[in-house]
Amino acid sequence: MPTASPSFQDLFHQVFGALPRQGPGNRVCAARALTLLPDLPAYPAVLDLGCGVGGQTLHLAELTAGSILAIDRHPPFIGHLTATLVERGLTGRVRARVGDLADLGLPAASFDLIWSEGALYNLGIPRALAICRPLLRDGGYLAFTDAVWRVENPPAAARAVFAADYPTMGRVEDVLALIGAGGFEPVGHFTLPDAAWWEDFYTPMERQVRALRERYHDDPAALAVLAEIGQEPDFHRRHGDAYAYEFFVARRTSKSGSTAGHEVKKEFE
Ligand SMILES: C[S@@+](CC[C@H](N)C(=O)[O-])C[C@H]1O[C@@H](n2cnc3c(N)ncnc32)[C@H](O)[C@@H]1O
Repeated sequence: MPTASPSFQDLFHQVFGALPRQGPGNRVCAARALTLLPDLPAYPAVLDLGCGVGGQTLHLAELTAGSILAIDRHPPFIGHLTATLVERGLTGRVRARVGDLADLGLPAASFDLIWSEGALYNLGIPRALAICRPLLRDGGYLAFTDAVWRVENPPAAARAVFAADYPTMGRVEDVLALIGAGGFEPVGHFTLPDAAWWEDFYTPMERQVRALRERYHDDPAALAVLAEIGQEPDFHRRHGDAYAYEFFVARRTSKSGSTAGHEVKKEFE
């Protein structure tokens, strides 16, 4: 009996679930972002939102001595991360849980640091800030990455893709303004280098898509889905000059909307 073609969801998971991470980023960038928060407590309570399979969760476990709660809405990613935590003996201070950013149900003022790589845009930055702010202790930090335009007039092809994926995407200064308006002080930001797109993300993605093309070589429906998924790294090769991922670090202010007199640390590559 012929086997049924895998669904889009299944193939999506076979590609993305097999990667060390599901978006751009790497350990070097996580370490660099942490240098922007020097007065973090020695044992911070950290919340990692939209953790995927936990690429950055594991970096945070190495780079901090704190407790970490990692949340993602995709159960297979959380299953994957939970297995890794068991394997690495990290379950004592790192927990992974299925949950929705929009409905976290966590106690107010319970974290020193909220970390989120490539996930807050799903809610829109203003809404995400409004959700994160009450969860942080006064003076707590929010560190997140977000896609931004790096040119004033991006090519039409790039605009078309982001119009579907992230229609409200702005430039760095737009995100800084949202941070200030959302009850945070921006304390620093930097652009992710190209290595952060390739090492742990697009290079393993291309390898995995190639392997799955061989596996499903006689399944035209699966090959069509893989061709679609496989376009993303090529899109980045062609249009990566027009957009970037920016790491933003912000600090919760005691009063919402106060940014007066604060100097933002701009780091250059
Ligand atoms: C681009 S991936 C980034 C994953 C990971 N942070 C990384 O950088 O490798 C975005 C992640 O956010 C999760 N996500 C999207 N919307 C979410 C929501 N409303 N609640 C929880 N997780 C969400 C997705 O399941 C996905 O794992």
